[in-house]
Amino acid sequence: MRLEPPVPVSREEYTVNVRDIEPLLQGYGMDMAPWPNATIKLRTGETMFIREAKVEEAKTLMQYVRRVMDSEHDFYDIVGARVYAELLGWYRKRLKDPYVMIGMIDGELAGLVNGRLMNEDINISHHTMTFKRGGRLGAALFYCKAYYAFEVLGQKEFWSTYESYNGWRIGFLGMAQPSYPWPDVQHELGGARVYYVTKKYWDRAIKDYSEQLVGSPLNFDVSDEIIEANKEIKLPDDVTV
Ligand SMILES: CC(C)(COP(=O)(O)OP(=O)(O)OC[C@H]1O[C@@H](n2cnc3c(N)ncnc32)[C@H](O)[C@@H]1OP(=O)(O)O)[C@@H](O)C(=O)NCCC(=O)NCCS
Repeated sequence: MRLEPPVPVSREEYTVNVRDIEPLLQGYGMDMAPWPNATIKLRTGETMFIREAKVEEAKTLMQYVRRVMDSEHDFYDIVGARVYAELLGWYRKRLKDPYVMIGMIDGELAGLVNGRLMNEDINISHHTMTFKRGGRLGAALFYCKAYYAFEVLGQKEFWSTYESYNGWRIGFLGMAQPSYPWPDVQHELGGARVYYVTKKYWDRAIKDYSEQLVGSPLNFDVSDEIIEANKEIKLPDDVTV
């Protein structure tokens, strides 16, 4: 947009260094405690290790998500496309305070969850993806996000929305989540309904949700061997969803 200056000026042109633009586009991050390493026993008998993903690993995750989003069933395509964009947004620093956790089984990527912090109080859940079906590891990963919001970051609300029936079942139904009036309040994912959990509700009712739905609690006493064995992300050879 251009307007004539309302005053005579001695300099008509200014150049702007992109390094001066970048802080405006990027903003600045909040202090975020990291997700502590955890394991959970799945009903298949397998143990899933859940750790924070590093931003340098974003491209590796994107590589696999890109393959998974070719699957049209069970909403893997739309969720995959959105997760891909969120991972890229994280990598290119175009998301405010994002976090990504990955689930690994036998040293191989088995699922991921991501979200971001709107502010000190509100955690926005973005997506959950299971790359290995049948073990309810998506439910376990979704639980980790809520656990991260309330127990690690000390936040007051956790906001979700759902694109798929399987997601709706583990989040909305599994946690019996109330929702804000729609369309007055909209989730940033497509303007859909916001389902939420408050800290009070978490403390009173949902803390043992993972035991109910997955069958076992989170274990935060993780050995150095497990951490070392999952240092690098090994992608599955095939897409089996
Ligand atoms: C939603 C999601 C994370 C749930 O993951 P999950 O908890 O690990 O559960 P699964 O999707 O593997 O299975 C869900 C149910 O369908 C069954 N199922 C469906 N397809 C299956 C398959 N191909 N193989 C094995 N089980 C399958 C499972 O047994 C399970 O039923 P049960 O819990 O009653 O036994 C996962 O389905 C997913 O990644 N979906 C695509 C992305 C998505 O929708 N994300 C959520 C956005 S709201």
